[in-house]
Amino acid sequence: MKRVGILTSGGDCQGLNAAIRGIAKGLYEEFGDNVEIYGIKDGYKGLIFGEYKLMKPSDFSGILTLGGTLLGTSRQPFKLMRVIDENSVDKVKAMKENYKKMKLDCLAILGGNGTQKTANLLREEGLNVVHLPKTIDNDVWGTDITFGYHSAVEVATDVIDRIHTTATSHGRIFIVEVMGHKVGWLTLSAGIAGGADVILLPEIPYDINKVAKVLKNRVENGKKFSILAVAEGALSKEEAAMSKKEFKKARANLGYPSIVYRIANELQEKVDNEVRVCVPGHFQRGGSPCAYDRVLCTQLGATAAKFIKEKRFGVMVGMVNGQTVPVPLEDVAGKLKTVPVDCPEIQAARQIGISFGD
Ligand code: F6P
Repeated sequence: MKRVGILTSGGDCQGLNAAIRGIAKGLYEEFGDNVEIYGIKDGYKGLIFGEYKLMKPSDFSGILTLGGTLLGTSRQPFKLMRVIDENSVDKVKAMKENYKKMKLDCLAILGGNGTQKTANLLREEGLNVVHLPKTIDNDVWGTDITFGYHSAVEVATDVIDRIHTTATSHGRIFIVEVMGHKVGWLTLSAGIAGGADVILLPEIPYDINKVAKVLKNRVENGKKFSILAVAEGALSKEEAAMSKKEFKKARANLGYPSIVYRIANELQEKVDNEVRVCVPGHFQRGGSPCAYDRVLCTQLGATAAKFIKEKRFGVMVGMVNGQTVPVPLEDVAGKLKTVPVDCPEIQAARQIGISFGD
């Protein structure tokens, strides 16, 4: 009998259930009745505190289009994994003990960068793990794409489309804050797809005077409204020149709920149009996965089942050049995939006059 545990960890996103389904159906196809799948509750928390249950094949039916994660999730910071907490819980020891208690042959771990680092830690501790890259941020190194990203691009693009019509009616400047943590993939794609006039990314620090100039030029050319797609991690040229410590301190004293509000205030002092902010927030992670993600999750899930059958452990199932491939966790854990500033998408955007505020 094969025993496989599945957990989803970190921020949720579209496609988690589709990927879980892919793994489970793949395993049942490979092993028939000779496999038991354990659903571990709320990510690594369930593995630490022994909260899991034996799943039935029917648990994995009808979930392809379902948003969120049927297993639940939680954020368990990697940097605290080896720290004994105030209740004297040794998290790593507890995870290993529960893995043994379930008699697992392997653990399938669905998550982003932080999750991947802990997956690698478990590998170093001798557990068999397979990681599937999920996040709307698309910032996992070693895979061309993460699931959840395309669905979030659709949502963020829809927000920008809708803001466009009301911005046009009122002749306003709208700043749409797009998620993505420290990288700009989501903002770049949604910004281009939504026809934003200015796109601000963490990878390209902005000059507020240049942004204001673009907006004024548009008014002079008869365009009364403007749309800015701004990454939640965007930063100014002054901030980019700071040390990590100085930047952290400056952001702790930001005085605004987030960077887009500061940008809005600064711009309002420089332009005549009314400047407004729109923060779609977690809408971007919610709801059904788009068709692209359903296919991607099915491919990644089916490949994870194959790797488990082949005993190919300690890897992430990456999608590279259209193929699912095993990527050693030790090569990728802790690396961040940022947007290359000269990537084809940025080049095309610049060619059609989109400003990056630099
Ligand atoms: O990593 C996904 C993400 O949605 C980021 O884009 C965002 O910065 C973060 O998670 C928000 O996290 P939380 O849901 O914990 O507030």
